Amino acid sequence: MDNQSLTIIDNRTDKTYTLPITNGTIRAMDLRQIKTGAEDFGLMTYDPAFMNTASCQSAVTYLDGDRGILRYRGYPIEQLAENCTFLEVAYLLIHGELPTAAELDAWNEEVMRHVLVHENVKKFMDGFHHDAHPMGILMSTVAALSTFYPEAKHFKEPVSRRLQIVRLIGKMPTLASYAFRHRMGMPYVFPEPELGYTKNYMNMLWKRTEPHYAANPVIARALEVLFILHADHEQNCSTNTMRAVGSAMADPYATTAAAIAALSGPLHGGANEEVLRMLDEIGSVDHIPAFIAQVKEGKRKLMGFGHRVYKNYDPRARIIKRTADEVFQVTGRNPKLDIAVELEKIALNDEYFVKRKLYPNVDFYSGIIYQAMGFTPDHFTVLFGIPRTVGWLAQWQELLQDPDQKIARPRQIYIGADKRDFVPMEQRGAQLAHV
Ligand code: SDX
Repeated sequence: MDNQSLTIIDNRTDKTYTLPITNGTIRAMDLRQIKTGAEDFGLMTYDPAFMNTASCQSAVTYLDGDRGILRYRGYPIEQLAENCTFLEVAYLLIHGELPTAAELDAWNEEVMRHVLVHENVKKFMDGFHHDAHPMGILMSTVAALSTFYPEAKHFKEPVSRRLQIVRLIGKMPTLASYAFRHRMGMPYVFPEPELGYTKNYMNMLWKRTEPHYAANPVIARALEVLFILHADHEQNCSTNTMRAVGSAMADPYATTAAAIAALSGPLHGGANEEVLRMLDEIGSVDHIPAFIAQVKEGKRKLMGFGHRVYKNYDPRARIIKRTADEVFQVTGRNPKLDIAVELEKIALNDEYFVKRKLYPNVDFYSGIIYQAMGFTPDHFTVLFGIPRTVGWLAQWQELLQDPDQKIARPRQIYIGADKRDFVPMEQRGAQLAHV
């Protein structure tokens, strides 16, 4: 017998089943043969929040949560953050290989050709309230793009699919900067592709009356590194959303808007904004013990800490912490860093956090840098969404090309009422009277 198998004895019937083990998993559908009789539907697995369920096979990103390892297409994140531009990493995630110089030049030109948005998008954007949250603006305008590109529904054709991919990668910074400028009450800045992906974004954000915004090279590089670190992270909540909505063959813009919606949640990408609010609330180092006590009583969460996969230090947090030092040499030190560093030190030596393997995640230090760069906290998750669009699209593309995949439709365990007959209106209050 192949030892890569699982032998199951069903004690209800004394029947024995042998299921093959592949890649450390058994196929859930192999359990369906385990029945108590012809009428039995067969066994399913029950796994709320997918704590122990692989939804797909993927070659995009590899994580080892216990060892704190993150690799894009096999390359360690530390090496990519050190040596690549963001669009170079975007090429890697989408194509599976690092580009040659010629391929990178062509890719840069192709993406930067798509940084413009239809002028009507500005009218759509102007309709938002002056203090509309940028994530609400971003998810709405990305969904609205599906109405500007009706031909996008032909994305099963490789040429059309690629066009939508480069359009979304190219347009995200433009939409994000428009959302930022709308919030600041400032005019939209026209994209300037020749500046390159990140400096064009900075120009659209920060340009005032000068001919060109002079992007500080240290800040521009730091933003590139942060974009690289946020580009993909295997089957996280927003990527799972992208795959689930994409599996219905929905329009790629609507699918990406759904992923943005998932990312906006405070337990996911919205955590970087919550970390800043938490540090503001703590206010000073001597208030940390009282806050930690509240966390340990279960009254609060230590935002920016903990992770479903990493039970060790998030490798991205380590790089972000180093990047903070470089940024602060230009912007001046953000005093909140002192609170964050002390909070981390206390937490990492406290049994409550050690026992639960809670370490700083990607969101713990990123907001402190963004604030020092001049971003308002409600824009932090937008800065997560811009680069993560590349990961969502790489995973979406992989889904479409995976013969194993079909429309996502989980089962359930029904725990509701048994069959019961309709109750006429006049009798309804009565039956509750004796409940
Ligand atoms: C991201 O999945 C990804 O890859 C996501 C991401 C990506 O790149 O896409 O890495 C980005 O979303 C990072 C996570 C950002 N979120 C936060 O920082 C919010 C705070 N963190 C938690 O909400 C929590 O840690 C999660 C949501 C990140 C993970 O939740 P899990 O895996 O469901 O863990 P859990 O809630 O079951 O926690 C296990 C225990 C619980 O205590 P007990 O019930 O065992 O007593 O740890 C506790 C939790 O209460 N716990 C925390 C905590 N996180 C977990 N206690 C205090 N503060 C926290 N932050």
